[in-house]
Amino acid sequence: MPQSMRALVAREVGEPDDVLRLESRPVPTAGAGQALIRVKATPIHASDLHVLRGRYGFSPEFPTVGGHMECVGRIEALGPDTEGLKVGERVVAVAIPAVPGSRVAGTWQEYLVADTHRLLPVPDRLSDAIACQLAVNPLTALLLVTRELDIQPGEWLLQTAAGSTVGRLVIQLARHLGLRTINVVRRRDAVEEIKALGGDEVICTEDEDLLQRVTELAGPAGVRKAIDCVAGHVGAQVFQALAPGGEVVVYGALSTHRQTDPPALTIPLQARSVIYETKVLRGFWLNRWFGTVSPTDALRALSEVRGLVVDEVLSIPRGRPFPLERFTEAISFAETSAHGAKPLLVFEDSRDEVDE
Ligand SMILES: NC(=O)c1ccc[n+]([C@@H]2O[C@H](COP(=O)([O-])OP(=O)(O)OC[C@H]3O[C@@H](n4cnc5c(N)ncnc54)[C@H](OP(=O)(O)O)[C@@H]3O)[C@@H](O)[C@H]2O)c1
Repeated sequence: MPQSMRALVAREVGEPDDVLRLESRPVPTAGAGQALIRVKATPIHASDLHVLRGRYGFSPEFPTVGGHMECVGRIEALGPDTEGLKVGERVVAVAIPAVPGSRVAGTWQEYLVADTHRLLPVPDRLSDAIACQLAVNPLTALLLVTRELDIQPGEWLLQTAAGSTVGRLVIQLARHLGLRTINVVRRRDAVEEIKALGGDEVICTEDEDLLQRVTELAGPAGVRKAIDCVAGHVGAQVFQALAPGGEVVVYGALSTHRQTDPPALTIPLQARSVIYETKVLRGFWLNRWFGTVSPTDALRALSEVRGLVVDEVLSIPRGRPFPLERFTEAISFAETSAHGAKPLLVFEDSRDEVDE
Protein backbone atom coordinates (compact mmCIF):
# COMPACT_ATOMS: atom_id res chain seq x y z
CA MET A 1 0.00 0.00 0.00
CA PRO A 2 1.39 3.47 -0.89
CA GLN A 3 2.11 5.97 1.90
CA SER A 4 0.68 8.92 0.01
CA MET A 5 -2.12 9.56 -2.44
CA ARG A 6 -3.60 12.27 -4.65
CA ALA A 7 -6.54 14.31 -3.38
CA LEU A 8 -8.52 17.21 -4.83
CA VAL A 9 -8.47 19.78 -2.05
CA ALA A 10 -10.11 23.19 -1.61
CA ARG A 11 -8.23 25.37 0.89
CA GLU A 12 -11.03 27.94 1.13
CA VAL A 13 -14.55 28.72 -0.06
CA GLY A 14 -14.66 29.94 -3.65
CA GLU A 15 -15.20 29.12 -7.31
CA PRO A 16 -14.20 25.44 -7.74
CA ASP A 17 -11.77 26.29 -10.57
CA ASP A 18 -10.00 28.83 -8.36
CA VAL A 19 -9.83 26.92 -5.09
CA LEU A 20 -9.33 23.26 -6.05
CA ARG A 21 -5.77 21.89 -6.20
CA LEU A 22 -4.39 18.38 -6.62
CA GLU A 23 -2.39 17.66 -3.47
CA SER A 24 -0.46 14.77 -2.04
CA ARG A 25 -1.79 13.52 1.29
CA PRO A 26 -0.97 10.56 3.53
CA VAL A 27 -3.17 7.50 3.01
CA PRO A 28 -5.46 7.37 6.09
CA THR A 29 -5.87 4.39 8.42
CA ALA A 30 -9.21 2.75 9.23
CA GLY A 31 -10.25 2.93 12.91
CA ALA A 32 -12.77 0.78 14.77
CA GLY A 33 -15.92 0.16 12.74
CA GLN A 34 -14.29 1.65 9.63
CA ALA A 35 -12.91 0.53 6.28
CA LEU A 36 -10.18 1.97 4.08
CA ILE A 37 -11.60 2.28 0.55
CA ARG A 38 -9.56 2.58 -2.63
CA VAL A 39 -11.80 4.83 -4.71
CA LYS A 40 -12.50 3.77 -8.31
CA ALA A 41 -15.04 6.37 -9.49
CA THR A 42 -16.92 9.29 -7.98
CA PRO A 43 -19.38 11.75 -9.55
CA ILE A 44 -19.35 15.54 -9.52
CA HIS A 45 -22.83 16.62 -8.45
CA ALA A 46 -23.99 20.24 -8.63
CA SER A 47 -24.30 20.11 -4.84
CA ASP A 48 -20.56 19.26 -4.56
CA LEU A 49 -19.88 22.56 -6.30
CA HIS A 50 -22.37 24.40 -4.06
CA VAL A 51 -20.46 23.11 -1.02
CA LEU A 52 -17.22 24.60 -2.37
CA ARG A 53 -18.97 27.88 -3.16
CA GLY A 54 -20.30 28.07 0.40
CA ARG A 55 -23.95 28.10 -0.67
CA TYR A 56 -25.10 24.62 0.36
CA GLY A 57 -26.97 23.44 3.47
CA PHE A 58 -23.79 22.57 5.37
CA SER A 59 -20.22 23.77 5.25
CA PRO A 60 -17.22 21.50 5.87
CA GLU A 61 -14.12 22.70 7.63
CA PHE A 62 -11.63 24.06 5.11
CA PRO A 63 -9.26 22.85 3.76
CA THR A 64 -11.56 20.09 2.59
CA VAL A 65 -11.31 17.23 0.12
CA GLY A 66 -14.09 17.77 -2.43
CA GLY A 67 -16.96 15.37 -3.10
CA HIS A 68 -19.51 15.14 -0.30
CA MET A 69 -21.86 12.64 -1.89
CA GLU A 70 -20.83 9.15 -3.08
CA CYS A 71 -18.24 6.90 -4.71
CA VAL A 72 -17.52 3.28 -5.56
CA GLY A 73 -14.31 1.56 -4.57
CA ARG A 74 -12.71 -1.57 -3.16
CA ILE A 75 -12.13 -2.30 0.50
CA GLU A 76 -8.37 -2.15 0.94
CA ALA A 77 -8.29 -2.73 4.72
CA LEU A 78 -10.71 -3.15 7.60
CA GLY A 79 -10.34 -1.71 11.09
CA PRO A 80 -11.32 -3.60 14.26
CA ASP A 81 -15.02 -4.36 14.95
CA THR A 82 -16.03 -4.69 11.32
CA GLU A 83 -18.18 -7.67 10.55
CA GLY A 84 -19.84 -8.78 7.34
CA LEU A 85 -17.46 -7.04 4.89
CA LYS A 86 -14.35 -8.48 3.21
CA VAL A 87 -11.10 -6.94 2.01
CA GLY A 88 -11.26 -6.70 -1.80
CA GLU A 89 -15.06 -6.35 -1.85
CA ARG A 90 -16.45 -3.63 -4.14
CA VAL A 91 -18.68 -1.19 -2.27
CA VAL A 92 -20.55 2.06 -2.67
CA ALA A 93 -19.50 4.53 0.02
CA VAL A 94 -22.07 7.14 0.97
CA ALA A 95 -20.17 10.27 1.95
CA ILE A 96 -23.17 12.49 2.67
CA PRO A 97 -22.70 14.13 6.07
CA ALA A 98 -25.83 13.63 8.14
CA VAL A 99 -27.37 16.85 9.47
CA PRO A 100 -27.10 17.46 12.38
CA GLY A 101 -23.96 15.60 13.13
CA SER A 102 -21.49 13.52 11.24
CA ARG A 103 -18.32 14.43 9.43
CA VAL A 104 -17.55 12.24 6.42
CA ALA A 105 -14.39 12.16 4.28
CA GLY A 106 -14.62 13.71 0.80
CA THR A 107 -14.63 11.28 -2.14
CA TRP A 108 -12.38 13.16 -4.59
CA GLN A 109 -9.27 11.33 -3.41
CA GLU A 110 -7.62 7.97 -4.07
CA TYR A 111 -8.28 6.48 -0.64
CA LEU A 112 -10.79 7.33 2.05
CA VAL A 113 -11.88 5.98 5.40
CA ALA A 114 -15.61 5.36 5.88
CA ASP A 115 -17.81 3.94 8.64
CA THR A 116 -18.90 0.44 7.60
CA HIS A 117 -22.57 1.31 8.07
CA ARG A 118 -22.13 3.74 5.15
CA LEU A 119 -20.94 0.96 2.79
CA LEU A 120 -23.13 -1.04 0.44
CA PRO A 121 -21.63 -4.05 -1.42
CA VAL A 122 -22.35 -3.98 -5.16
CA PRO A 123 -22.52 -6.92 -7.56
CA ASP A 124 -20.08 -7.18 -10.49
CA ARG A 125 -22.86 -6.64 -13.01
CA LEU A 126 -23.16 -3.00 -11.93
CA SER A 127 -20.29 -1.11 -13.58
CA ASP A 128 -18.28 1.47 -11.68
CA ALA A 129 -19.99 4.20 -13.72
CA ILE A 130 -23.40 3.11 -12.47
CA ALA A 131 -22.45 2.03 -8.96
CA CYS A 132 -20.79 5.36 -8.13
CA GLN A 133 -24.14 7.12 -8.76
CA LEU A 134 -26.32 4.62 -6.92
CA ALA A 135 -26.85 6.42 -3.66
CA VAL A 136 -27.74 10.08 -4.11
CA ASN A 137 -30.17 10.52 -7.00
CA PRO A 138 -31.84 7.06 -7.08
CA LEU A 139 -32.29 7.15 -3.31
CA THR A 140 -33.75 10.65 -3.50
CA ALA A 141 -36.20 9.53 -6.21
CA LEU A 142 -37.23 6.48 -4.17
CA LEU A 143 -37.72 8.45 -0.94
CA LEU A 144 -39.66 11.25 -2.62
CA VAL A 145 -42.05 8.90 -4.37
CA THR A 146 -42.54 6.21 -1.74
CA ARG A 147 -41.85 7.85 1.65
CA GLU A 148 -42.30 11.60 1.40
CA LEU A 149 -45.55 11.47 -0.57
CA ASP A 150 -48.15 8.75 -0.25
CA ILE A 151 -49.05 8.49 -3.95
CA GLN A 152 -51.56 5.83 -4.86
CA PRO A 153 -51.51 3.84 -8.12
CA GLY A 154 -53.33 5.81 -10.83
CA GLU A 155 -52.81 9.11 -9.00
CA TRP A 156 -51.02 12.03 -10.65
CA LEU A 157 -47.57 13.18 -9.64
CA LEU A 158 -46.50 16.57 -10.98
CA GLN A 159 -42.75 17.12 -11.21
CA THR A 160 -40.41 19.85 -12.48
CA ALA A 161 -37.03 19.46 -14.24
CA ALA A 162 -38.22 16.07 -15.45
CA GLY A 163 -35.11 15.75 -17.64
CA SER A 164 -32.79 15.82 -14.63
CA THR A 165 -31.30 12.56 -13.41
CA VAL A 166 -33.69 12.53 -10.44
CA GLY A 167 -36.61 13.43 -12.74
CA ARG A 168 -35.88 10.52 -15.09
CA LEU A 169 -35.58 8.11 -12.19
CA VAL A 170 -38.91 9.36 -10.81
CA ILE A 171 -40.56 8.64 -14.17
CA GLN A 172 -39.20 5.08 -14.20
CA LEU A 173 -40.25 4.48 -10.61
CA ALA A 174 -43.70 5.93 -11.24
CA ARG A 175 -44.24 3.54 -14.13
CA HIS A 176 -43.12 0.65 -11.98
CA LEU A 177 -45.57 1.66 -9.24
CA GLY A 178 -48.46 2.51 -11.57
CA LEU A 179 -48.42 6.26 -10.86
CA ARG A 180 -49.13 8.83 -13.58
CA THR A 181 -46.69 11.67 -14.11
CA ILE A 182 -47.06 15.20 -15.41
CA ASN A 183 -43.54 16.28 -16.27
CA VAL A 184 -42.42 19.88 -16.58
CA VAL A 185 -39.38 20.62 -18.77
CA ARG A 186 -37.99 23.96 -19.88
CA ARG A 187 -36.73 22.91 -23.34
CA ARG A 188 -38.82 21.88 -26.34
CA ASP A 189 -36.11 19.34 -27.30
CA ALA A 190 -36.70 17.41 -24.09
CA VAL A 191 -40.40 16.68 -24.67
CA GLU A 192 -40.13 13.60 -26.91
CA GLU A 193 -37.31 12.18 -24.82
CA ILE A 194 -39.41 12.36 -21.66
CA LYS A 195 -42.38 10.76 -23.40
CA ALA A 196 -40.15 7.97 -24.74
CA LEU A 197 -38.95 7.35 -21.19
CA GLY A 198 -42.54 6.77 -20.09
CA GLY A 199 -43.62 10.19 -18.84
CA ASP A 200 -47.43 10.26 -19.23
CA GLU A 201 -47.70 13.99 -19.94
CA VAL A 202 -45.10 16.65 -20.59
CA ILE A 203 -45.47 20.40 -20.18
CA CYS A 204 -42.79 22.52 -21.83
CA THR A 205 -42.55 25.94 -20.18
CA GLU A 206 -40.89 27.31 -23.33
CA ASP A 207 -44.23 26.89 -25.18
CA GLU A 208 -47.00 26.27 -22.66
CA ASP A 209 -48.65 27.80 -19.62
CA LEU A 210 -47.99 25.47 -16.68
CA LEU A 211 -51.14 26.33 -14.72
CA GLN A 212 -53.49 26.07 -17.66
CA ARG A 213 -52.00 22.77 -18.87
CA VAL A 214 -52.18 21.13 -15.42
CA THR A 215 -55.86 22.07 -15.22
CA GLU A 216 -56.51 20.65 -18.69
CA LEU A 217 -54.65 17.42 -18.01
CA ALA A 218 -55.88 16.62 -14.51
CA GLY A 219 -59.48 17.76 -14.87
CA PRO A 220 -61.70 18.88 -11.98
CA ALA A 221 -60.06 16.57 -9.41
CA GLY A 222 -56.72 18.29 -10.04
CA VAL A 223 -53.29 17.19 -8.91
CA ARG A 224 -52.66 16.67 -5.21
CA LYS A 225 -49.00 15.59 -5.17
CA ALA A 226 -45.95 17.32 -6.60
CA ILE A 227 -42.18 17.42 -6.31
CA ASP A 228 -40.14 20.44 -7.34
CA CYS A 229 -36.42 21.03 -7.76
CA VAL A 230 -36.60 24.35 -9.62
CA ALA A 231 -38.11 26.67 -6.94
CA GLY A 232 -38.56 30.39 -7.73
CA HIS A 233 -41.37 31.27 -10.13
CA VAL A 234 -41.76 27.67 -11.42
CA GLY A 235 -42.02 26.31 -7.86
CA ALA A 236 -44.69 28.92 -7.11
CA GLN A 237 -46.65 27.92 -10.20
CA VAL A 238 -46.52 24.26 -9.18
CA PHE A 239 -47.92 25.22 -5.77
CA GLN A 240 -50.64 27.25 -7.43
CA ALA A 241 -51.51 24.38 -9.78
CA LEU A 242 -52.18 21.98 -6.90
CA ALA A 243 -55.72 21.06 -5.91
CA PRO A 244 -56.92 22.16 -2.44
CA GLY A 245 -55.25 20.07 0.24
CA GLY A 246 -52.41 19.21 -2.13
CA GLU A 247 -48.74 19.02 -1.15
CA VAL A 248 -45.48 19.77 -2.87
CA VAL A 249 -42.08 18.61 -1.69
CA VAL A 250 -39.27 20.94 -2.74
CA TYR A 251 -35.90 19.20 -2.99
CA GLY A 252 -33.83 21.54 -5.17
CA ALA A 253 -33.60 25.12 -6.36
CA LEU A 254 -32.20 24.89 -9.89
CA SER A 255 -33.55 28.30 -10.87
CA THR A 256 -31.40 29.88 -8.19
CA HIS A 257 -28.16 27.99 -8.88
CA ARG A 258 -26.32 31.11 -9.94
CA GLN A 259 -27.98 33.37 -7.39
CA THR A 260 -25.92 34.79 -4.57
CA ASP A 261 -28.48 37.37 -3.53
CA PRO A 262 -30.50 35.87 -0.60
CA PRO A 263 -33.79 37.74 -1.36
CA ALA A 264 -33.75 36.10 -4.82
CA LEU A 265 -33.64 32.58 -3.33
CA THR A 266 -37.38 32.38 -2.80
CA ILE A 267 -40.58 30.55 -3.76
CA PRO A 268 -43.28 33.23 -3.73
CA LEU A 269 -46.47 31.55 -2.47
CA GLN A 270 -49.99 32.93 -2.45
CA ALA A 271 -51.22 33.29 1.13
CA ARG A 272 -54.79 32.56 -0.02
CA SER A 273 -53.75 29.10 -1.29
CA VAL A 274 -51.89 28.33 1.90
CA ILE A 275 -54.77 29.36 4.17
CA TYR A 276 -58.05 28.73 2.39
CA GLU A 277 -56.90 25.78 0.29
CA THR A 278 -54.74 24.34 3.10
CA LYS A 279 -51.97 23.41 0.69
CA VAL A 280 -48.62 22.33 2.03
CA LEU A 281 -45.10 23.01 0.82
CA ARG A 282 -42.23 21.31 2.59
CA GLY A 283 -38.64 20.49 1.93
CA PHE A 284 -36.64 17.31 1.54
CA TRP A 285 -32.88 17.00 1.99
CA LEU A 286 -31.02 13.71 1.95
CA ASN A 287 -28.50 14.95 4.52
CA ARG A 288 -31.29 15.59 7.01
CA TRP A 289 -32.88 12.24 6.16
CA PHE A 290 -29.59 10.50 7.03
CA GLY A 291 -29.66 12.38 10.31
CA THR A 292 -33.11 11.08 11.20
CA VAL A 293 -33.02 7.40 10.22
CA SER A 294 -31.02 4.63 11.87
CA PRO A 295 -27.98 3.26 9.97
CA THR A 296 -29.94 0.00 9.52
CA ASP A 297 -32.90 1.78 7.92
CA ALA A 298 -30.57 3.83 5.72
CA LEU A 299 -28.80 0.67 4.48
CA ARG A 300 -32.18 -0.99 3.94
CA ALA A 301 -33.32 1.87 1.69
CA LEU A 302 -30.00 1.78 -0.17
CA SER A 303 -30.35 -1.98 -0.70
CA GLU A 304 -33.83 -1.35 -2.10
CA VAL A 305 -32.32 1.10 -4.59
CA ARG A 306 -29.58 -1.40 -5.51
CA GLY A 307 -32.29 -4.02 -6.14
CA LEU A 308 -34.24 -1.66 -8.41
CA VAL A 309 -31.11 -0.90 -10.43
CA VAL A 310 -30.03 -4.55 -10.65
CA ASP A 311 -33.56 -5.52 -11.76
CA GLU A 312 -33.39 -2.75 -14.38
CA VAL A 313 -36.44 -0.94 -13.03
CA LEU A 314 -34.17 2.08 -12.65
CA SER A 315 -31.62 2.97 -15.27
CA ILE A 316 -28.89 5.44 -14.32
CA PRO A 317 -27.22 7.41 -17.14
CA ARG A 318 -23.65 6.08 -17.52
CA GLY A 319 -21.82 9.32 -16.82
CA ARG A 320 -18.71 10.70 -18.53
CA PRO A 321 -15.32 9.73 -17.12
CA PHE A 322 -12.48 12.18 -16.47
CA PRO A 323 -9.13 11.23 -14.91
CA LEU A 324 -8.58 13.11 -11.64
CA GLU A 325 -5.95 15.43 -13.15
CA ARG A 326 -8.52 16.69 -15.70
CA PHE A 327 -10.81 17.96 -12.95
CA THR A 328 -11.22 21.45 -14.41
CA GLU A 329 -12.70 19.95 -17.61
CA ALA A 330 -14.95 17.74 -15.51
CA ILE A 331 -16.22 20.77 -13.58
CA SER A 332 -16.98 22.74 -16.75
CA PHE A 333 -18.84 19.68 -18.06
CA ALA A 334 -20.88 19.58 -14.82
CA GLU A 335 -21.99 23.15 -15.48
CA THR A 336 -22.98 22.62 -19.11
CA SER A 337 -26.68 22.68 -19.79
CA ALA A 338 -28.39 19.58 -21.24
CA HIS A 339 -25.41 17.23 -21.03
CA GLY A 340 -27.54 14.28 -19.87
CA ALA A 341 -24.65 12.64 -18.03
CA LYS A 342 -22.72 13.28 -14.83
CA PRO A 343 -18.99 13.86 -14.97
CA LEU A 344 -17.23 11.07 -13.08
CA LEU A 345 -13.74 11.38 -11.66
CA VAL A 346 -12.08 8.02 -12.26
CA PHE A 347 -8.90 6.55 -10.85
CA GLU A 348 -6.17 4.50 -12.51
CA ASP A 349 -7.54 0.98 -12.29
CA SER A 350 -11.06 2.04 -13.17
CA ARG A 351 -10.43 3.92 -16.42
CA ASP A 352 -10.95 0.91 -18.67
CA GLU A 353 -14.14 -0.10 -16.88
CA VAL A 354 -15.85 3.30 -17.06
CA ASP A 355 -16.22 3.67 -20.82
CA GLU A 356 -17.49 6.81 -22.51
N1 LIG B 1 -32.66 17.53 -1.63
C1 LIG B 1 -31.86 16.51 -1.88
O1 LIG B 1 -31.49 15.75 -0.99
C2 LIG B 1 -31.41 16.27 -3.28
C3 LIG B 1 -30.84 15.04 -3.64
C4 LIG B 1 -30.49 14.86 -4.97
C5 LIG B 1 -30.64 15.90 -5.91
N2 LIG B 1 -31.15 17.08 -5.47
C6 LIG B 1 -31.37 18.20 -6.38
O2 LIG B 1 -32.14 17.75 -7.45
C7 LIG B 1 -31.90 18.57 -8.57
C8 LIG B 1 -31.65 17.69 -9.77
O3 LIG B 1 -30.40 17.03 -9.59
P1 LIG B 1 -29.81 16.10 -10.73
O4 LIG B 1 -28.48 15.62 -10.28
O5 LIG B 1 -30.86 15.12 -11.09
O6 LIG B 1 -29.66 17.17 -11.90
P2 LIG B 1 -29.00 16.99 -13.34
O7 LIG B 1 -29.04 15.57 -13.77
O8 LIG B 1 -27.70 17.70 -13.33
O9 LIG B 1 -30.02 17.76 -14.28
C9 LIG B 1 -30.25 19.11 -14.18
C10 LIG B 1 -31.57 19.37 -14.91
O10 LIG B 1 -32.14 20.55 -14.45
C11 LIG B 1 -32.67 21.29 -15.51
N3 LIG B 1 -32.57 22.69 -15.13
C12 LIG B 1 -31.48 23.39 -14.80
N4 LIG B 1 -31.80 24.66 -14.48
C13 LIG B 1 -33.14 24.76 -14.64
C14 LIG B 1 -34.07 25.81 -14.49
N5 LIG B 1 -33.69 27.03 -14.12
N6 LIG B 1 -35.37 25.55 -14.75
C15 LIG B 1 -35.77 24.34 -15.13
N7 LIG B 1 -34.93 23.28 -15.29
C16 LIG B 1 -33.64 23.50 -15.05
C17 LIG B 1 -31.80 20.92 -16.70
O11 LIG B 1 -32.58 21.13 -17.83
P3 LIG B 1 -32.02 21.19 -19.31
O12 LIG B 1 -31.94 19.75 -19.73
O13 LIG B 1 -33.05 21.97 -20.01
O14 LIG B 1 -30.69 21.87 -19.24
C18 LIG B 1 -31.49 19.45 -16.40
O15 LIG B 1 -32.51 18.64 -16.92
C19 LIG B 1 -30.74 19.49 -8.20
O16 LIG B 1 -31.27 20.72 -7.76
C20 LIG B 1 -30.12 18.76 -7.04
O17 LIG B 1 -29.41 19.63 -6.19
C21 LIG B 1 -31.55 17.28 -4.19
